[in-house]
Amino acid sequence: MSRNVISIVAGTPVAGAPGGRITSTNPARTSEVIADVSLGDAAVFVAAARAAREAQQAWAEVPAPVRGRAIAHIGRVVEANAKSLARLVTREIGKPYAEALGEVREIVDTCDFFLGEGRRLYGQTVPSEMPDKQLFTFRNPVGVVSVITAGNFPVAVPSWYLIPALLCGNAVVWKPADYSPACGAALFDLLVHGGGLPDGVLNLVLADGETTFTGLEQALDWGLVDKVGFTGSSAVGSLIGELTGRHLQSACLELGGKNPMVVTPSADLDLAVEAALFSGFGTAGQRCTSLGTVIVHESVHEEFIARFDKATRQATVGDPFSDVVLGPMLDEKFAERFEDFLGWIQPHHSVLGSTATGRITAANPREGFAGDPDAGIFCHPTIIDGVREDDAIFLNETFGPLVGVTTYRGLGEAIRLANVPGYGLSSSIYTSEPAEVFAFRRGISAGMVSVNNSTSGAEAHLPFGGNGKSGNGSRQSGMWVLDQFTRWQSMNWDYSGRLQKAQMDVTELTPDESFRLAD
Ligand code: UN1
Repeated sequence: MSRNVISIVAGTPVAGAPGGRITSTNPARTSEVIADVSLGDAAVFVAAARAAREAQQAWAEVPAPVRGRAIAHIGRVVEANAKSLARLVTREIGKPYAEALGEVREIVDTCDFFLGEGRRLYGQTVPSEMPDKQLFTFRNPVGVVSVITAGNFPVAVPSWYLIPALLCGNAVVWKPADYSPACGAALFDLLVHGGGLPDGVLNLVLADGETTFTGLEQALDWGLVDKVGFTGSSAVGSLIGELTGRHLQSACLELGGKNPMVVTPSADLDLAVEAALFSGFGTAGQRCTSLGTVIVHESVHEEFIARFDKATRQATVGDPFSDVVLGPMLDEKFAERFEDFLGWIQPHHSVLGSTATGRITAANPREGFAGDPDAGIFCHPTIIDGVREDDAIFLNETFGPLVGVTTYRGLGEAIRLANVPGYGLSSSIYTSEPAEVFAFRRGISAGMVSVNNSTSGAEAHLPFGGNGKSGNGSRQSGMWVLDQFTRWQSMNWDYSGRLQKAQMDVTELTPDESFRLAD
């Protein structure tokens, strides 16, 4: 059953389709339309920011514990709708159903964390250097937050922004990816209905990327946006960073990754292979945290590659509603780009993991494929062994089911190689040596480090974010994200009845610095 989805500004659906109409289709069966979408234009984005501006102050005046209750109710409503939301995720972006259920769980986990924050959102009392004076800190909402998200995690990653932003008393304009509009509309409804949110506190804008950028630029010029959260490519992230920087704002950026996994001689190879399979090919390799390159010690390389190749050949690919490791690509545009990445394969590479590369079709089949490959957008999982550090495949994110493999001799070399591409989101090491764990942790540029665990699968209450090409150092999740959606305000209150001047009117005790203990 297809649905109509439309931007919602101040609680009202936007009339017409000023940005044109598109359809969202099921990537596992492209003849199936999931949604007919009416897109907004830049003016809709600006109107949404204005509606948020108008609603924000009243929302900030709702006591934080009451906002926390709204988050609690959202969590329960999402839980009650978990299966239908997960089904929609699987239908609209092709994420295998088990992973989609995990994604929905991540929203509930986020709500569970932040419902209590409504009763904390702590400030501090701080001693003053003068008598009869007290110092305090308060967290203030930033105001209007504009959130622009990708479609590979069409509901969980948006919730990492939306839930804490709302809890902190901000009003929000959310623009989901244009290939996951139905998931966006569904999460919007769950938040608005579940939270009982007043009109304008959360607004939904469906638009393409360029239109959104223009709308955001205008809204910033009008002073209608105070903070931007963006999950997407490093290229667009740097444009958003530049735009917000011009307005003296720092965006919360969650960008791409080229996430390394180091496999040392003391690694449990079966565990490392299982992790490489899950993080390389889960969500068809289209997570920000997907495995980029395995950096394996030369002494275990042959054994690792044999097992990884075997496991990948045996992995089930196909209908995301059946028990598969790999479903389809998220959208046609990612499949096309993935085929460009395959053009980077060179004669010194060995290609492993499947019966072919590129699109899986009846003419280019994958052994054991579940379903009809020609009905959807499926690609062969691909392992490229023998990558070198100046190869394009080694240096760039290859969003899709492709894992590079290279070797190292000493751990220092492994760490250096892991940092060469200049991203810094997630990383992993398989080892039994504590000294290697801590040397890796110190040396790796990534914001997240897994030990004997895969590069993906971050828990929803640890700081999530990257460095370098993966982001500007902002962190989401847990208490750390509060610094994205609040600003510290300090207050000092002098009740001495005098003007006590800081640094000048401070009592000094007189030390005897010449004092020594008798021998
Ligand atoms: C993303 O790919 O943008 O750690 C987020 C993970 C998930 C979130 C990924 N919990 O893989």
